[in-house]
Amino acid sequence: MEIIFETKRLLLREFTTDDAALIYELNSNPEVVKYVHEEPITDVKVALTSIIDRIIPQYINYGYGRWAMHLKGSLEFIGWCGLKYRPERDEVDLGYRFKQPYWGKGYATEAALATLQYGFETLDIPVITAMAHIDNTASLKVIEKCGMQFQGFEEVEGCPVKTYTFNNPYTK
Ligand SMILES: CC(C)(COP(=O)(O)OP(=O)(O)OC[C@H]1O[C@@H](n2cnc3c(N)ncnc32)[C@H](O)[C@@H]1OP(=O)(O)O)[C@@H](O)C(=O)NCCC(=O)NCCS
Repeated sequence: MEIIFETKRLLLREFTTDDAALIYELNSNPEVVKYVHEEPITDVKVALTSIIDRIIPQYINYGYGRWAMHLKGSLEFIGWCGLKYRPERDEVDLGYRFKQPYWGKGYATEAALATLQYGFETLDIPVITAMAHIDNTASLKVIEKCGMQFQGFEEVEGCPVKTYTFNNPYTK
């Protein structure tokens, strides 16, 4: 496994087409997709399509993307965290999604902070954005704990969201 970066407890790596079962396990839980404007997936082929059509092209086109996360030690897959270029908004978006047994352990904050650091220091991205559904309290808390600045309320693809930005602190 080629590691992109690690945190105290986590390893992050690129997804491959061998990971469809992991994505299926994650996105088939209705609780996990409750606030992300997606239906739970019911077929592992849908997971494979999303890796081929959405995840891998980000690595190829932009040099970053959503990365698979594993616990150090056991190497258990627990979800993903990472960056995504949104051409329709011309923004680099921070996002994360964890398997439900791993919620509430501080992993999202740990992964999000490390992703911001990697995006600013290694990738030299000038501004990273984030958004979350107004009722997704846990995600909003993670964004705010990372120190991102609230920008406003918006409706994105029919969902009411709060939007945030973080300017690269290393840019002069
Ligand atoms: C959102 C998500 C990533 C949070 O992951 P997590 O590992 O539980 O996050 P953390 O433990 O780092 O922090 C969550 C914080 O929110 C708080 N929190 C969680 N649920 C909450 C709730 N219902 N109300 C208030 N606070 C809540 C936690 O107490 C914690 O705050 P604290 O550190 O001050 O105690 C996780 O719930 C998830 O994967 N959800 C499904 C996918 C998703 O919604 N992704 C985000 C899309 S924008």
